[in-house]
Amino acid sequence: MHFTINGTKYDADPDIRTSLLDLLREHLGLTGSKKGCDHGQCGACTVLVNGRRINSCLTLAVMHQDDEITTIEGIGTPDNLAPLQSAFVRHDGFQCGYCTPGQICSATGMLDEAKKGWPSHVSESLDGDIALSDEEIRERMSGNLCRCSAYPNIVDAIREIAGEDA
Ligand code: FES
Ligand code: FES
Repeated sequence: MHFTINGTKYDADPDIRTSLLDLLREHLGLTGSKKGCDHGQCGACTVLVNGRRINSCLTLAVMHQDDEITTIEGIGTPDNLAPLQSAFVRHDGFQCGYCTPGQICSATGMLDEAKKGWPSHVSESLDGDIALSDEEIRERMSGNLCRCSAYPNIVDAIREIAGEDA
């Protein structure tokens, strides 16, 4: 099978029951995406598929041979952090860091969704510009759990990148 991950082509031959998360971690050595629960509850495995965030533990690798997959390794590197990653550092948005790759991938997808005007469960209007209030950010990031409870700082970091005032 052929996969495109972070702009690089990979060949792999996983069992067809292999999740995308296990393909990344166990077959390709891309261990940035984390396995917190392996059943769609925590968001630690979040990656972007064609720009949209998904839980990679809940989808089969074989379904994504024609997709553009972006993992945390494709968003930034220790020497060249993405703006969201720098904001997480500035705002102390992590402690153990286990949830952080998923938080960054999810926030990347979420900011794009908001820019496109996609409403959330707490949006006051179904159309028009989305102002990313703390309530909006919390709702849109609610699929990403942080057992260290860095939530207020994660919200601060995302708000800074969204360009919203406190
Ligand atoms: S590991 Fe995928 S949602 Fe928890
Ligand atoms: S920083 Fe530890 S789980 Fe989020």
